[in-house]
Amino acid sequence: MIYLDNAATSWPKPEGVAMAVYDCILNKGANPGRSGHKMALEAGRIVLECRETLAEFFGIDDPMRIIFALNTTDALNMAIKGLLRPGQHAVTSSMEHNSVARPLKKLESIGVETTYVSADGIGLILPDDIEKAIKPNTAVIILTLASNVTGTIEPYREIGRIARRHGIPFLLDAAQGAGHIPINVNEDDIDIMAFPGHKGLLGPQGTGGLYIREGIDLDTIKEGGTGSHSDLVTQPDIMPDRYESGTLNTPGIAGLKAGIDYINSIGIEAIRKHEIEICGRIIDGLKEIDGVKVYGPQNAEMHAGVVAFNVGNMDSTEVSYILDSEFEIEVRAGLHCSGLAHMTIGTFGQGVVRVSPGPFTTEQEIGKFLEAVRQIARL
Ligand SMILES: Cc1ncc(COP(=O)(O)O)c(C=O)c1O
Repeated sequence: MIYLDNAATSWPKPEGVAMAVYDCILNKGANPGRSGHKMALEAGRIVLECRETLAEFFGIDDPMRIIFALNTTDALNMAIKGLLRPGQHAVTSSMEHNSVARPLKKLESIGVETTYVSADGIGLILPDDIEKAIKPNTAVIILTLASNVTGTIEPYREIGRIARRHGIPFLLDAAQGAGHIPINVNEDDIDIMAFPGHKGLLGPQGTGGLYIREGIDLDTIKEGGTGSHSDLVTQPDIMPDRYESGTLNTPGIAGLKAGIDYINSIGIEAIRKHEIEICGRIIDGLKEIDGVKVYGPQNAEMHAGVVAFNVGNMDSTEVSYILDSEFEIEVRAGLHCSGLAHMTIGTFGQGVVRVSPGPFTTEQEIGKFLEAVRQIARL
């Protein structure tokens, strides 16, 4: 089987990830941050070490400003609903995933206003257009680091600088990009960042997180047991407990640390180089096939591990079905939870076939994938 669906969830994982999950469940399976016995302390150490590893990875000064979440969606909900109040305005883009668009839609019912800045035909947002959309009541700028439909890397650094200049918090959805592209929250002017553990960071499903810069106060959307200040019925103010109620996914967090350790052992630059080479092969190879249309930038350097295409007028889900059933090649098709992005690039009806290689994808696998698409295009 050839797995090319890493933008949904990365697979395979480095062996160390599975080993870390196994070791945690087998030997360190107590509840972290609750009881004071030895195994609970061991579990607490796993959580702390992962927080520290993440902080170093993203250039975060204080690891306690990282909140563990179930996935990017969970983190984005905490950020968007914790930040915006009735009468406030959010600037975002037409390339956002539903995990941004749907919480914003929900907030419209309490009087939050949103401006969706349109991207161009390759899914690229212009920083100037973001700046023009800012109003006196703009309380946040929300942007995806890269589109999960076209793979287009957005000018997030420029947009972060604009947000900083205007004194508006900048919330980055790093679902596509974390683990692919080096991120430094200070150099990149990121105030809040939602990230998955189970995609580019190579951790298990059920992991993700939210970084909140010091000085930014989000309301909580969830309250409960934290293992701290149990004498109070109010949510503690200390970080990360304010936002981390309930038992954490310690085995997943152990695996997430192992995923980042693997990336560090290879070097994120080497991972990115491989991704550009493989995406370049995919783009160039697809473009040579009669009847195939490639969406997004035609230059692999502008892609974050995602390439989208269609074969003539064939429904994208049919192409993906044939790739799976006849060739054992796993890709994703349809609208990818981002209807807005498809309206932007003109594929709302047909959807697109999305190929997303990972750090373990080989040139040979891409050769087989291109041959399969060649055969489908001849049908
Ligand atoms: C750009 C983007 N944002 C958010 C999400 C949601 O991520 P998760 O599945 O971790 O909740 C995805 C998932 O693919 C995504 O691509």
